Order: sequence, then structure tokens, then C-alpha cells
Amino acid sequence: MHSSSTGLTVAYLPPFAANYLPFSRLVCCKPHPYPMPDQISQRELVEILKFYSEAGVDCAIDEKAMDWLAHGEDPPGSELRKVLAGHTASSTGVGSAATAAQRQRPAPGSNPPASRPGHPSSSQARAPAQRPSRQPPPAAGANRTGETAPGAAEARKLAAKANSLDDLRQALDAFEGCALKATAKNLCFYRGAPQSRLMIIGEAPGRDEDLAGKPFVGRAGQLLDRMLAAIGLNEESVHITNVVYWRPPGNRTPTLQETESCRPFLERQVQFVEPEFVLLLGGAAAKSILDVTDGIMRLRGKWRDIAIGGRTLKALPTLHPAYLLRTPAAKRQAWRDLLTLHKALAR
Ligand code: URA
Repeated sequence: MHSSSTGLTVAYLPPFAANYLPFSRLVCCKPHPYPMPDQISQRELVEILKFYSEAGVDCAIDEKAMDWLAHGEDPPGSELRKVLAGHTASSTGVGSAATAAQRQRPAPGSNPPASRPGHPSSSQARAPAQRPSRQPPPAAGANRTGETAPGAAEARKLAAKANSLDDLRQALDAFEGCALKATAKNLCFYRGAPQSRLMIIGEAPGRDEDLAGKPFVGRAGQLLDRMLAAIGLNEESVHITNVVYWRPPGNRTPTLQETESCRPFLERQVQFVEPEFVLLLGGAAAKSILDVTDGIMRLRGKWRDIAIGGRTLKALPTLHPAYLLRTPAAKRQAWRDLLTLHKALAR
């Protein structure tokens, strides 16, 4: 037992019970009164599991024990946060306390940002030959059956004219080609860093997001934040968005026409964010971005190269946090996917 400065008591966990999701609660207010697992009976095992369940632990996630408390001030993934912080801060010229608007990339013609590791310098960044990402977004692939979605042509025109994320937001405000806009309260464009090595794409805003005008701010978003924190990431280091920018009525899955009418904006967004990796949350986002019909259980955890916005990126589908809230046992698989992502980002 260990009493923290907050007055809460932290239980030291026997190895088997320490196989937690790191985004489960590890703090509880009473000591576990049980011996170590190799000495305990079936009945005691049930009791100890009950104890941890009451403490907020909702599933085991790995075969091997991991003592998170032994990581002290340096939790797993902290080295990654430093790498990504460097990427974001140097690319935008401001620290983590800056607002998203301050971190917004300047439009061509204004002062260039400093260069950053792993990215072209700003002068290179301005040369069209070096920057396919500044080209207007290409038309959707021939096999995308929603290419002729009403609004897609207008979307392409508006998106092509945008020279920054701010412009793109204005273009979305002016866009009338997606039916979802008529029933939504607010545009939900993105939250997080304007540029990042990691872009996270979900399905569609829900009620909380519609009210706040930002993606992933409700319960699923809070779980997403905890999942990211478990591998050393936070809002400052990632760019979070959805395949559609407005809430579908009743939180239904967006239709192909709706996703296709938003797609040119998403492609342009990718060009500004310049990610290397894309994390696709849930089946709807994965199917839409990968242009496949397989279910998420088949797709998850495997990298795919995708061409989007004139760039080739590595995309990793995983389970949607809303699904994880309903199905805590699936966090085990989500954690594996997060470790896969962590490994790629750390390279
Ligand atoms: N679910 C999503 O897919 N996106 C959000 O922004 C919120 C919930």
C-alpha cells in the first residue's frame, strides 16, 4: 500500500492482477488483503477479482504481468511524447500552451515556419515539385462508388481553394453539399495539433461533439484520450477528426453519400496536417478510408498503405472507443493495436 500526496491509497498489485489496461483505474481506497496468486485457491481468486473489479479494474490485457507503478515518474510512452512534442512545437513555432489558432500554419505568402525533424524545410515546403501535398486534392478513386455523391464536386472545388486549415474550416462553413449539415447544430472540424505525425479519424460526431463543435469530446472521446495517454500521447501531439464533419441524426452511421461529400475536405485536411500515420477508429471509418467491406475485427491491428490527399500514409484500423465502452473485454485487442502504433511512432 502506498498513500499518495492526494490522500488516495494506491494498491500494489500482485503480478497477475497488474495486467491492466493502463487506461483503467489503478487507484483504490483499500488494501488488497490477499496472498500472491501462486498460493491462492479458486475461491480466493474469485475474491481478489471481485476486489479489483470494485476498484475499477475492468479487464486484463496481456499474458505477462506489468508493474505500472514501477515506472514511477516515467510512464510507458513518455519518450514518445518528447519526440512528438518536438515535431509539433518546432513545426508550429509555439509551445504546448498555444491555442490551435496560434498553431495554425500560415497561408502561403506569410512568414514561413521553422523546419522540423523529418519534414522538409519551409523553403522546400513551398516548392510545388517537392510538395505534392499542396496540390489540390485528386478526384476520389475510380472504385469509390460515392464519387458522384451530390455535393462532392462542390466540395472538391471549395477544398482545392483552401490554403490552410482555417480556410478549410471556412469552406466547410460555406459548404451546403452534405445533408447532415441541415440537422446538426455545429461543424465538428478537428481537435488537437494542426500538424502531426499521427492523424486519428473516427466515424462521426455524436451529441456532445455536436454541442461542443469538436470531435471526440464525449465519453468515447475521454476514453480515447486515456488510450492515447497510455502510449504517451495527448491532444497537443495528435490531430483528431472524423470521416464526416456533422452529426448524423440519432447518431446513425453516415451513408456513403455523406462520407463521399466530405471526402475532398478530408483529403485536403490530410495535406495540411501532413501525417505519417493514420489511426482509424471503428468499422465505419476503416471501411470508408480503406475502401473495403471487411469488418473491423478482420481489419484491426494490421497496417495498410493508403493513398489519400496525394500522400501515401500508413493506416492502422482499431476498435472504436464507443465500442470499448460497451465491450470492456475488447480493450485487450485495442491495447495491442495501441502498442503496434506506439512501436511505429517510436521508430
Ligand atoms: N464517435 C466518433 O466517431 N467521433 C466523434 O467525434 C465522437 C464519437
